[in-house]
Amino acid sequence: MGRPILRAIGLMSGTSLDGVDAAWLETDGEQVVRTGRALTLPYAPELRLRLRRLLDRAGANLPVQDPELLEATAALTQCHVAAVRALETRADIIGFHGQTILHQPQRRRTWQIGDAALLARACGLPVACDFRLADVAAGGEGAPLAPVYHRALAHDLARPLAVLNLGGVGNVTWLGEGDSLLAFDTGPGNAPLDDWVASRTGAAFDRDGRLAAAGRIDEAVLARLMADPYFARPAPKSLDRLDFAARLATSGLAQLGTEDGAATLVAFTAGSVSASLAHLPARPRRWLVTGGGRHNPAIMAALASRLGDVAPVEEVGWDGDALEAQCFALLAVRVLAGLPLTFPGTTGVAAPLAGGRIVDPA
Ligand SMILES: Nc1ncnc2c1ncn2[C@@H]1O[C@H](COP(=O)(O)OP(=O)(O)O)[C@@H](O)[C@H]1O
Ligand SMILES: [Mg+2]
Repeated sequence: MGRPILRAIGLMSGTSLDGVDAAWLETDGEQVVRTGRALTLPYAPELRLRLRRLLDRAGANLPVQDPELLEATAALTQCHVAAVRALETRADIIGFHGQTILHQPQRRRTWQIGDAALLARACGLPVACDFRLADVAAGGEGAPLAPVYHRALAHDLARPLAVLNLGGVGNVTWLGEGDSLLAFDTGPGNAPLDDWVASRTGAAFDRDGRLAAAGRIDEAVLARLMADPYFARPAPKSLDRLDFAARLATSGLAQLGTEDGAATLVAFTAGSVSASLAHLPARPRRWLVTGGGRHNPAIMAALASRLGDVAPVEEVGWDGDALEAQCFALLAVRVLAGLPLTFPGTTGVAAPLAGGRIVDPA
């Protein structure tokens, strides 16, 4: 007998700190039966700033009762409640990733904030959460989690195939013949470019890659950035949003003009994706790009010049703005069913591992 098919809402707020993505999905936890409505609720600029401050403080013993942390958690959760309501759709379960403020798997720490009990009560639905904790506790990287969803979506596409997600951080899922799966964080996604543009212009990001397109790559700065030992490290591996902060600060980037800095950071993102080729069992015949980075033509052009066949996931009928949220809808159903969330090829955990927990509304 097959598993029950459930209607699930997935909620994802990535390291870009741009807002909450919500998406509806029907699934048995293995296959995607149907996708449905999806939306993004942007964070108010003030919430974005508060989260940013927490991120900066999280490394240095942020107490769990910190008032700023508690306030931001409540505001963040309300934003998720609003996203669920805005979907205006019925569901059986919610998958709630929460906002990562710290990710240090080598110290067996990963921290996603959000009040699952509050969300469950407000929505009257069970909430699956804490997707990464069991994996990190078992010595895994705790990331990426999307590969199992990428595999479900890509079941009938030609292999080897790469699915590249460019959020704040970049991560790749490599799909080989059969069920073989390899995934890891490639390096920076949009975050360093977002931070650069924010510091120089006050804008949240380089809209349509206009600044980068008007700039020239500084090869010396780029070389210093690409010298980071992360790129030579074999998979599995994962990143914190701030992992390149120190290197960026000493790279000479700060001496560049706004446009040249943007062009150099785009090359950094594309260069790190291209460095990931060394860790893949075979060169992908195609790269499907999801996440906000695919909206940046400068990034897409830089990827195409290094990798060949690069296309947004829309090319195969997926929704690149909803994909991560859909993933947490499917993962919620997997949590409920006790199915594994992580695998040796995705997080380096010793054996396929179930995870997450369910918080009931009562
Ligand atoms: N039109 C656009 N031009 C350039 N960059 C864009 C555009 N739209 C979105 N982005 C980038 O995508 C990011 C959001 O990507 P997203 O996939 O939501 O990341 P995360 O999963 O980390 O939240 C923004 O911060 C921005 O850098
Ligand atoms: Mg986002």
